[in-house]
Amino acid sequence: MSNSSEAELLHLFKGIRFTTRSSPDLLKSLDTFDAREDDVLLVSYPKSGTHWLAGVITKLYNTQVTITSPIEFGDITKLDELNKLSSKRIIPTHLDYNMLPRNFKNKKCKMIYISRNPKDTAVSMYHYYRDNPNLPTIDTWTAFFDLFVKGNVVCGSWFDHFLSWEEHEDEKNILFLFYEDMKKDLPKVVKEITLFLSLNISDKDIQDICQKSSFSEMKNDTEKENSNPSHTVCALTSNRRLIFRKGAVGDWKNHFTPKQNIRFEEIFNEKMKLSKM
Ligand code: A3P
Repeated sequence: MSNSSEAELLHLFKGIRFTTRSSPDLLKSLDTFDAREDDVLLVSYPKSGTHWLAGVITKLYNTQVTITSPIEFGDITKLDELNKLSSKRIIPTHLDYNMLPRNFKNKKCKMIYISRNPKDTAVSMYHYYRDNPNLPTIDTWTAFFDLFVKGNVVCGSWFDHFLSWEEHEDEKNILFLFYEDMKKDLPKVVKEITLFLSLNISDKDIQDICQKSSFSEMKNDTEKENSNPSHTVCALTSNRRLIFRKGAVGDWKNHFTPKQNIRFEEIFNEKMKLSKM
């Protein structure tokens, strides 16, 4: 990664790397955000399946809902923009729990945290970095692997992010989901989401929603869309095909060398020793 490119595209805020599209003024003012009790947050570390989850959730409502771009994305006008929305808001975010506007916590807004095997997350992020002009240039997988395990990538360390949220796993307004469980049995996970969101949806409708949320369906829908990146879950590219790359579990095996795998396992075991994962 060339330094100039990193300096142009990323900045550090409270020790975490953000793209310059998240303005420092916005990040500083997040705590002033006025949450509404019926806001739903979709929380993830990047590349964990946020779009998939968002695709499912928007299909669950038959009333008008607006899925916004991530709360931390934009300039100082962002919070006003969100305040002007009259419909129910579904708000994605990649923020660490500690950086989340406190109003969401005080009002006990519902939050869904989606997580994914960090090895697959790293690989997905590598491809995303590689093909995305809004992120610093990455020369090799080896170079990216090193940045990822040190947490020197956009949104910081996967481990810190996961641990900050896992600490709140038992709170009633937070639902923890795993990408791998969605791959294994999507209807079961969707049922869990409907119960959490108190939505009454028949099993038949759940089956339909799952079909419409398959990787191929979502990829095709996306290719038809002419979306504006400022108004979508992924705020960093207008090439939405970047989001729907492979959609597989275990792609890390095609990238990690045995040595990288051992190093990753060591770091994982050390960082996650107090985790229930
Ligand atoms: P890959 O890069 O491994 O293919 P996010 O939405 O958080 O940016 O995550 C993107 C990852 O989720 C990508 O992983 C993408 O392919 C995968 N994904 C998106 N929609 C999916 C779906 N319907 N089914 C399975 N995986 C999906």
